[in-house]
Amino acid sequence: MEVIITADPQSASRQAALYFKSLLRRKKNAILGLATGGTPVLLYQELIRLHRAGELDFSQSSTFNLDEYMGLGPEHPASYRRFMQDHFFASIQLPAANIHIPDGLAADVPAHAAAYEKAIVDAGGIDLQLLGVGSDGHIGFNEPSSSLASRTRIKTLSERTRSDNAHFFAAGEEVPYHVITMGIGTILDAREIVLLAFGDKKADAVAALVEGPVSAMVPASALQLHPSVRVIIDEAAAGKLQRTEYYRHVFDFKPAWQKQG
Ligand code: GLP
Repeated sequence: MEVIITADPQSASRQAALYFKSLLRRKKNAILGLATGGTPVLLYQELIRLHRAGELDFSQSSTFNLDEYMGLGPEHPASYRRFMQDHFFASIQLPAANIHIPDGLAADVPAHAAAYEKAIVDAGGIDLQLLGVGSDGHIGFNEPSSSLASRTRIKTLSERTRSDNAHFFAAGEEVPYHVITMGIGTILDAREIVLLAFGDKKADAVAALVEGPVSAMVPASALQLHPSVRVIIDEAAAGKLQRTEYYRHVFDFKPAWQKQG
């Protein structure tokens, strides 16, 4: 696990964009695993900027999003499908057929989840998975106590996550209780993972995922089992880590070629 501590969310997002750029240079038809929430918004803006500058071409890539709220259709303002459209897809000329997001309106959820897993495998597997982290250490919508071997399935949100995400919903509107999410096992199958976390609200989760024991109580700690994870955080999110000096030292003394991913 590589921990990269940056001055602010802008620099973290620019750093994360380098890994997307490097991958898309190597592999034009890369399979990207994408995330929602407030955290990746600046990264999407940076990727759009690079696309407009002619430095990034998404036209042959495909995307798989982590999760979706059950009961929300694509036009619902708080659906992740709508989020992705507004924050990213509308600006990057990615063919609609290449976009995959779990269907919050699926009638047969287990069948839909199995088909989602199969679509990832059929596409060749995810090359680079982007993640945020919940304040309780969840990734995707895999809440604490999720199996570390889980696959795409229905999950019930904790009250803490429902309350953390309430600001994405209209006043008085109920946050759904259920979601469809890639499992932790699905996420760990990605060839490369970039996790972003900003702000002191994420400091406990970051410390637990990087330096704590691997535990289903902190789903993100499962990333310690993956050979290629970059955790890119700002100073505030790094606030509770023990070994920040070492992480900075590792980054500062890298060979230049490695810094580009
Ligand atoms: C939701 C999403 C996660 C995201 C988390 C943190 O639960 N399913 O993918 O990482 O929220 O969101 P934010 O980035 O808004 O803090």
